Amino acid sequence: MAVTAPAATLEPPVALIAEITHRCPLSCAYCSNPLELERSAAELGTSDWLRVIEEAAALGVLHLHFTGGEPLARRDLATLVRHAAALQLYTNLITSGVQLDDRAMLALAEAGIDHIQLSFQDVEPERGDASGGLKGGHARKLAAAARIVAAQVPLTLNFVVHRGNIDRIPAMIALGERLGASRIEIAHVQYHGWALLNRASLLPTAEQLAVATAGVGAARARLGSRIPVDYVLPDYFATRPKACMGGWGRRAMNISPSGKALPCHAAESLPGFDFPSVRDTSLGAIWNGSEAFARFRGTDWAPEPCRSCKHLEADLGGCRCQAFALTGEAARTDPACKLSPDHHIVRQAIADAVAANDLQPRRIGLFGRAATR
Ligand code: SF4
Ligand code: FES
Repeated sequence: MAVTAPAATLEPPVALIAEITHRCPLSCAYCSNPLELERSAAELGTSDWLRVIEEAAALGVLHLHFTGGEPLARRDLATLVRHAAALQLYTNLITSGVQLDDRAMLALAEAGIDHIQLSFQDVEPERGDASGGLKGGHARKLAAAARIVAAQVPLTLNFVVHRGNIDRIPAMIALGERLGASRIEIAHVQYHGWALLNRASLLPTAEQLAVATAGVGAARARLGSRIPVDYVLPDYFATRPKACMGGWGRRAMNISPSGKALPCHAAESLPGFDFPSVRDTSLGAIWNGSEAFARFRGTDWAPEPCRSCKHLEADLGGCRCQAFALTGEAARTDPACKLSPDHHIVRQAIADAVAANDLQPRRIGLFGRAATR
């Protein structure tokens, strides 16, 4: 690993995002995982993950997010949660829920899971099953939600919205209320990885977006603090980008299934990087010394117009992976920004999207599901 001197004021990451597997029983067209997935044979083993969790706690990480793929595809999930809980880490499981049966729920509750984020593809069984590519999947999710609430684990219901389901946001929020969610997240598709291939068929129209945003506003007014509804305008329709990941190498660390340490889940799409592995380097050494993490940390790298823009400290020039995906250069202003010289790319994508309707589902599967992981 290439090592540089750490910045004197470098704070530890708040969150570790543990992508413990890419295996997944669903086949969503909006999957933002990389085009090249890591197979189960390459996954870190249990003992490696237990060590990584210890290193995270020692480094000062507060939150540990188990994600994937589908984390429940691994049999050692509860073991990892128990270890993290014993080290006082706040544990969050991000799951599709289709494998969250009574046994899995009991194991997670006993292990001390703090929070579960359960994703739904839609509000109606047929549409949800079609979108996730799993017959009976929606019913399993409903059952999973009931188990989570019965186990008294705080539940966030997550809906990824796109042109095909955005008109049902009020019904999504109503479903969240019915199921006893303590939080509802309406998340627009992030156009990374597989989702970028399907962008023309996923982007909503400006009219749909306006209605959806008004619907969320009305729900927020009604629900108040009883059930917070998270919702952010999608990049492609906003005038300024977001500080992706809270800033490159600033708030969070991603670990891929095989143990690569990444500043964000799409970072491997960027050429010219040598991302370190937790197999041979400690989290602390990576966070404090990796050139890859330092590359876009802070604002010194920023080009014009960001460099002389008053918003730079707030949005840090947007998303590096989106800049690369749309312009071929990671160190350019995110084209989602209306001040970017490349903003026409985003405008054109919206214009091109109007009639497209040929979604390509992502078929991953639980390859290696019966393995001991
Ligand atoms: Fe943010 Fe750069 Fe756009 Fe200014 S020019 S708003 S810093 S992305
Ligand atoms: Fe990589 Fe935004 S997803 S910086």
